[in-house]
Amino acid sequence: MSDSLSSPQQSATVIIGASGGIGSALVRRYLALGDCETVFAVSRVPPTSSFALSGTRLHWLLCDSSQQEVNRVAAELVSSGLNLHRIIICTGLLHNEAITPEKSLDKLDPDAMRAVFDVNLVVPALWLAALVKPLRRTAGSVIAVLSARVGSITDNRLGGWYSYRASKAALNMFLKSAAIEYSRRAPGVKLVSFHPGTTDTYLSSPFQANVAKEALFTPDFVADSLVKLLDDVQPDGELSFLDWAGIEIPW
Ligand SMILES: NC(=O)c1ccc[n+]([C@@H]2O[C@H](COP(=O)([O-])OP(=O)(O)OC[C@H]3O[C@@H](n4cnc5c(N)ncnc54)[C@H](OP(=O)(O)O)[C@@H]3O)[C@@H](O)[C@H]2O)c1
Repeated sequence: MSDSLSSPQQSATVIIGASGGIGSALVRRYLALGDCETVFAVSRVPPTSSFALSGTRLHWLLCDSSQQEVNRVAAELVSSGLNLHRIIICTGLLHNEAITPEKSLDKLDPDAMRAVFDVNLVVPALWLAALVKPLRRTAGSVIAVLSARVGSITDNRLGGWYSYRASKAALNMFLKSAAIEYSRRAPGVKLVSFHPGTTDTYLSSPFQANVAKEALFTPDFVADSLVKLLDDVQPDGELSFLDWAGIEIPW
């Protein structure tokens, strides 16, 4: 949490949505790698005390997720002069005090639906738009966006969770179009839509009762899986929809 940035030759990892269960595990994981690099954590809220002793490699940037703020923070990241070689967008909303995932059409609430689409689709979209120009000359960078298997149209056998499912399906379609545009304007960037598996965080907490113990992952396990997965992908102009094991998910 220092203002002094490293030399321009170095690279950085950016975790957006850094206060969440998976986001904060990723920040800890990249800091623990030790051999590299600056970690930019982007969040609506300040860091918890657990990050207080993280030293000068962690830069915590506040951002309220409005377009103006996303553009401002993107410009700040670029002005560091660092190679932004891992960008992971972890924002997501399934429920909160006012929102419950809909089990039936009768439960649709337009305000709740808009809020879910805002966090799951619009916020990542703003980041993709803000980063395409700054990343035009980068090589070997990855942007991973946290999606969900329930956004797969092929895989949908249960129905329900209308807003969450639809917003993640829309996110995947947005990312597919963005991958086509990135392949022209920022061809050194690989886009990944990532399903972490059911992970023990605030987001899944009300829905864990029927999840087998071995199927409920810790955020640290998911962070570790994603770090390894991102080391293996190569820019190919395509969007990959991958799960925590690196297995392709059908659209
Ligand atoms: N947990 C699971 O079982 C599971 C399964 C499949 C997919 N996912 C996906 O994984 C991602 C991370 O989820 P998580 O499990 O870590 O959940 P979480 O602990 O609830 O974290 C949610 C994140 O979303 C951001 N966020 C929430 N409301 C927001 C708002 N109104 N505006 C902007 N940002 C907002 C928060 O960022 P800040 O507070 O830092 O700004 C936080 O990082 C999500 O995209 C989720 O859909 C999770």
